Amino acid sequence: MIPSVLPTYSRAPLSFVKGEGSWLIEADGRRFLDLGAGIAVNALGHANPALVKALSDQAQSLWHTSNLYQIPNQQALADKLVEHTFADTVFFTNSGTESCELAVKMARKYWYEKGAPDKTDIITFEGSFHGRSSAGIAAAGSEKMTKGFGPLLPGFIHLPWGDMDASKAAITDTVGAILVEPVQGEGGIRPMADSDLKALRALCDDHDLLLILDEVQCGMGRTGRLFAHEWAGITPDIMMVAKGIGGGFPLGAVLATEKAASGMSAGSHGSTYGGNPLGCAVGAAVMDEMTAEGFLDEVNRKAGLMRQKLEGLVDAHPEVFEEVRGAGLMLGLKCKAVNADVVKAGYDNLLLTVPAADNVIRLLPPLTISDEEIGEAITRLDAAAKAVENA
Ligand SMILES: Cc1ncc(COP(=O)(O)O)c(C=O)c1O
Repeated sequence: MIPSVLPTYSRAPLSFVKGEGSWLIEADGRRFLDLGAGIAVNALGHANPALVKALSDQAQSLWHTSNLYQIPNQQALADKLVEHTFADTVFFTNSGTESCELAVKMARKYWYEKGAPDKTDIITFEGSFHGRSSAGIAAAGSEKMTKGFGPLLPGFIHLPWGDMDASKAAITDTVGAILVEPVQGEGGIRPMADSDLKALRALCDDHDLLLILDEVQCGMGRTGRLFAHEWAGITPDIMMVAKGIGGGFPLGAVLATEKAASGMSAGSHGSTYGGNPLGCAVGAAVMDEMTAEGFLDEVNRKAGLMRQKLEGLVDAHPEVFEEVRGAGLMLGLKCKAVNADVVKAGYDNLLLTVPAADNVIRLLPPLTISDEEIGEAITRLDAAAKAVENA
């Protein structure tokens, strides 16, 4: 008999009743150190007091009005995002997938309104993940995600990851945009080289294409900058955001330049819940924390510490781990052992990590993780690796 929850996930036999900072707690009191953070969502830790206050205060006054009216919290959050990024304008969504939908629509509408309705193709890269909607799976293109869900949304050209020659060669009159994650998350924590991101920007400039960045997983302080593309010194035309921006409350956004957004007029897009007062109150609190003096410096310092300790761990367990990869606190351990076995051994040692493609385990702790917790994480990873070695 089919379970009452549609069985699209193979879930671990763990269930949490409480979260505190970097910790998740089961009903029996067992405390797990959380290096998954809800897959890069709880960027400021569980039950962060500033976020709890923002949500509770807003919950006392107003939950929802619809986008038929002015929403001051939405305006305030949009202003903060515009102030701290390349963007001139923001549309709020409830998830990364919805951000992908709008990013694709926005790019196509841009060209349509410019009198080039045939420029519908979007270049994407293998190993990408852009969500599970029809546009998201078609954009990523992997068999695993698309099989059985046809006919797929047309108009995506899939190229080998980071292949700049192929990118150049793929540009034709029907290509209107390039879509890429600066650091692939689901694909196995694969950062695109800064030089390649620069090259993609240059290609877009030379051929008058829109550069769409998917920063759903790598954005919001994860790599030590507010957004990962900042390391490469480039800016996109359109950017997808979600996960960390809500710190655990469902919130996403599409950020865009005035030019890229110029096709989107009243009535061209909408969302019942997007930009609701609750989500935007939390998002504003997240932005205030992340843009506070010294916050990102601390992320970078802790990222350095964690990476150094992980390199030691890899050296100590060459049969289990192959290398450390990633940027900031978006780290991956490429495994020699089966990654699922390492994740499972982590559970046995009260440590949560997240598997990814390419036989990687992801370490995406809350950005607020302490030095002591980093040390504890390494101790538990070490115990997990020993268990895998002895299995
Ligand atoms: C890079 C990237 N894009 C899009 C998505 C989809 O986001 P959501 O699951 O919030 O719809 C994800 C989710 O993991 C992601 O990592």
